[in-house]
Amino acid sequence: MLAKEDLASFKLEQILAKYTYARDFFISLGINEIDPNLTVKDFAGEINYDVLEDAGLNREQLIVNFLAFISRMEALKKSSRNVVESITIIGGNDKFGNAEHINLELKVGEVISIVGPTGSGKSRLLADIECLAQRDTPTNRQILLNGEVPDINKRFSMENKLVAQLSQNMNFVMDLSVQEFIRFHAESRMVANIETIIHEIVSCGNELAGEKFDQDTPLTQLSGGQSRALMIADTALLSLSPIVLIDEIENAGIDRRNAIELLVKEEKLVLISTHDPVLALMGDKRLVIKNGGISKIIDLSEEEKYYIDILEKVDKKMLNIRNHLRTGGVIDDKIISGLTGQ
Ligand SMILES: Nc1ncnc2c1ncn2[C@@H]1O[C@H](COP(=O)(O)OP(=O)(O)OP(=O)(O)O)[C@@H](O)[C@H]1O
Ligand SMILES: [Mg+2]
Repeated sequence: MLAKEDLASFKLEQILAKYTYARDFFISLGINEIDPNLTVKDFAGEINYDVLEDAGLNREQLIVNFLAFISRMEALKKSSRNVVESITIIGGNDKFGNAEHINLELKVGEVISIVGPTGSGKSRLLADIECLAQRDTPTNRQILLNGEVPDINKRFSMENKLVAQLSQNMNFVMDLSVQEFIRFHAESRMVANIETIIHEIVSCGNELAGEKFDQDTPLTQLSGGQSRALMIADTALLSLSPIVLIDEIENAGIDRRNAIELLVKEEKLVLISTHDPVLALMGDKRLVIKNGGISKIIDLSEEEKYYIDILEKVDKKMLNIRNHLRTGGVIDDKIISGLTGQ
C-alpha cells in the first residue's frame, strides 16, 4: 500500500502498477507517453510549460490535482465495489448441544457446496447466513462480515440486500412479462442502459434454461427451470448482492455448471446446498453437515476435480434414461449397455 501523502514521491511506474487508471490523468493532459522512472514531483517539475498553460495549472496544482484524482477514483471504486469481501462462520452447537468447532472464512469468488442427509441442517446453515445470525438462531452460530460483527442496519436492510437467496419454490405471482420484471429491477438499481441489460439477462437466462423463453413471456408461464434460470441471470448481472445462496437446485432443468460459473465470474460468494453429486463437486470447499452442525470441511482435491467430467457423463446418461421413461420408453439391453458403456 502506498501512503497517500507520499504518493508524489513515488515513481510513476509504481503508481501506475497500483492505480492503473492514473494513466487517464496524463492522457487528459494530452500526454500519452510518460517516463515511468520519474516521480510525480519530478514529472510536474519537468512538464512542458505549454501543457500546463493549456490545462490552466501551475506545477504545484498539477500535483494536488493528481492526488485528488487518485483519491476520488479510489473512493468511487470502494463505493461501487461489493462491500463484502468475506463472511466468517463461527460455530454454535449441533442439535444435541455439542459445540461446533468452526471458525471458517469464506471469500467472495468462492463456491461452497453443502452436503448432508435430509434434515441434517443444510437449509438452516443457509438461513443463518441469510439473516447474518448473531447467536440468536437455533444453531447459536455467529456470522461475521469482513471479519467483523455486521452493523445492525446491514442485517435488516432490504434495499442493500447482501444475500440473494434462490430457493426451490420460485413461484412468480406477479403479473409481469420477463421484460417488465427485469426493467422493474433495473430501474430500482438505477441502471443506465436498461434495454441492453434486458437483452443480456434474457439471452443469458436462455443459455442456462433447457427450453427457451423470450422477453415477452409472462413470468407466470415460465417453467420451474426457466424461472430459476431467469433469476440466476438476473442475480448475476443485476443484483448487487455479493452473496448468493442456492438451496437445492438439482433437476431444475438448468445448466448448473454454467449457472455457477456465471455467478462466480461476477465475483460473488456462492453457497449451494445439494443432494446432487455433480453439484457437490463444483464447490471449492464442501461442508458436510451432520445433526445440525458442520462436521467436516473438505477441500476439492485434484483427484476429485479430475473425476467431475466422468460423473457428469454418468449423470447425463441417467438424465437421458429419465427422459426416455418419461416419454413412454422401456428399459432394454440397448439402454443398459449404453449406460454401462459396454
Ligand atoms: N444446530 C441445530 N440446532 C437445532 N436445530 C437445528 C440445527 N440445525 C438444524 N436444525 C433444525 O433441523 C431441522 C432440519 O434442518 P434443515 O431443514 O436445515 O435440513 P436440510 O439439511 O436442509 O434437509 P433437506 O435435505 O431435507 O432439505 C430444521 O427445523 C432446523 O431448524
Ligand atoms: Mg433443506
